[in-house]
Formats: sequence, structure tokens, C-alpha cells
Amino acid sequence: MIRKATYEDLPELMEVFGKAREIMRASGNLNQWNDGYPSEEIVRKDIEKGVSYVLFEDDSKIIATMAFIPGPDPTYAKIYDGEWLDDSPYHVIHRIAAAEPGHNAASTLMAWAFTQTECIRIDTHKDNVIMQHILDKQGFAHCGMIYLTNGDPREAYQMNIKVNKYKALYNLAHCYFEGEDDLIANMANLSAMIHREFEFWWTGFYRVVGEQLVLGPFQGPTACTKIAYGKGVCGSAWKRGETIVVPDVEEFPGHIACSSESRSEIVVPVWRDGRIVAVLDIDSEKLGTFTETDKVWLERIVELI
Ligand code: SME
Repeated sequence: MIRKATYEDLPELMEVFGKAREIMRASGNLNQWNDGYPSEEIVRKDIEKGVSYVLFEDDSKIIATMAFIPGPDPTYAKIYDGEWLDDSPYHVIHRIAAAEPGHNAASTLMAWAFTQTECIRIDTHKDNVIMQHILDKQGFAHCGMIYLTNGDPREAYQMNIKVNKYKALYNLAHCYFEGEDDLIANMANLSAMIHREFEFWWTGFYRVVGEQLVLGPFQGPTACTKIAYGKGVCGSAWKRGETIVVPDVEEFPGHIACSSESRSEIVVPVWRDGRIVAVLDIDSEKLGTFTETDKVWLERIVELI
């Protein structure tokens, strides 16, 4: 079970950090946290800020801890020898420590963290192979190097659940559409794949037919059948020849409400031989669902059909 740490936990937390240091040394990680880091003062500050969490057993013994902090983190402002996955808002995990090796305690804390946020950045010492293994297993990507305020280099990792889903979707779409050039068939399968993976409100295509868009394959509730050039988000994306991300449909002049449940939307043009032949339209019943990450990945994925 996981809860926020309290001041009463401080002595036990310091013991956990001590044991974690022993585990590091035993695994050949000789230099990380060798200056008594994290100090009691740092841990106390984490508790004060409400960012210190503990994983505890039935008898309330603390078996692991972490600081789980909303970003941005100043030490992550610059990355070297690589780049972050994306610029999505993120949380940071610092000072993650388990009292015993091999109990999946750190993984449990991380898995819980992803129930609170979609995107996490974390860094670790180059000799901390245990942590690197845990990060790989969780699905983190190694992004490059960052430097702590004291100048020490650290391996930088990021995981964005959305990016991981899009990567899997891209690979799946690649397999499905290689060797299949029927656009309608591919639109049908792609809307099914996207809809199933993300459970959006509505996922589908409008095809360019003459001077208007006509409803194509889709998943979700019934929708408007025809949209004129330049009208609504779909017609505007066609006219502008670019993806449109709408964080709040009520703020988009001329938005066509096929469903009153739709709160945010993204429309991505589908190009063939230098002209737009359709648009992919996705609606969400939540505000602000779509970001630059969706734009980048959906543009890549529609290129496959
Ligand atoms: N909202 C879209 C119309 C299509 S439905 O969302 C499925 C628009 O404004 O173009």
C-alpha cells in the first residue's frame, strides 16, 4: 500500500535510505549517494511539500520510498547526447529507495506513479544497473545525459504512456497496412486500432468527395455525414492543409457538434500523391485531451494507410 510520508516516518525513512545505499554498494554502484545523500533535511522538505511517498506492508513497515514531484525540474532543462521524448508536462521521481533488493518495491511505486500522471522523467547514476533495469522493464526510454546542480552527470530517462501506446500502434499499423492499399479498408482498421487503444469518444475518417467531406469508416456514435470545405474543424483542416488541435471545442468558431459529449478534438489530414484525400477526426469527451504528441504521432501513423 502507498501513502504520503509524515514527519513520524523520518527515522524509518533514513534507515531505508541507508539500506538502499548498502544494496547499491553490494551491486557495484560505489559512488552514488556516498555523501550521505539524501540528507534528513532534504527528506524533511519532501515531507513538508507533500511529495514524499512510502510503500508499506501490512504491519505498516516501510519497504520503499520516493519523492514524486510535479515538474518542471530545473536540472532537466538541458539534456545532452540525446533529447527528451517530448515536451509534455511531467512529474519527476527522485530519491527512490527500497529497503531490500528483489522485491519489486521500486517498480510498484513507479507503477502507482503512473496512475497519477501520464509522463515521468527520472535520472540515475551510470553505475546503478539495478535502477536502469527497472526503468527498462517499466518502459522508460533512455533519452540522454543531464547534469545535477553539483555538476555530476546522470543518465536521463522519460516515459510517456501516450508515446508508448502510439509506438505500439505505429508498429501494429505498419504490419497491417504493408501490402494493403485499399484506403477504405485501411481507414476502417486504423480507426478501430486507435479507438480501442485510447478509448476516445469518436475516432473516424471523413473522405474528400468532390467539394465536401463525406463520412467514412469510424468507431463511436453516429455522426454528421457531410461537411463542406472550410467548415467545422474537419473542413478547416482540409482547407488549411494542416492538423488542427482543439483543446476546447466551444472555443473553436464554427465547430460542428455531431455529439454534445465531445469536448476536445484533433483533425489530421491524410495525404496521397500531394493532395488531401481524407481527414482523420478524433473526439474526446474530456477537455484538452490532444497535444503536440498526438499531432506528431497521428501524422506519422496516417502516412501508413
Ligand atoms: N466536430 C467535427 C465534425 C465531425 S464530428 O466531430 C464526428 C467538426 O467540427 O468538423
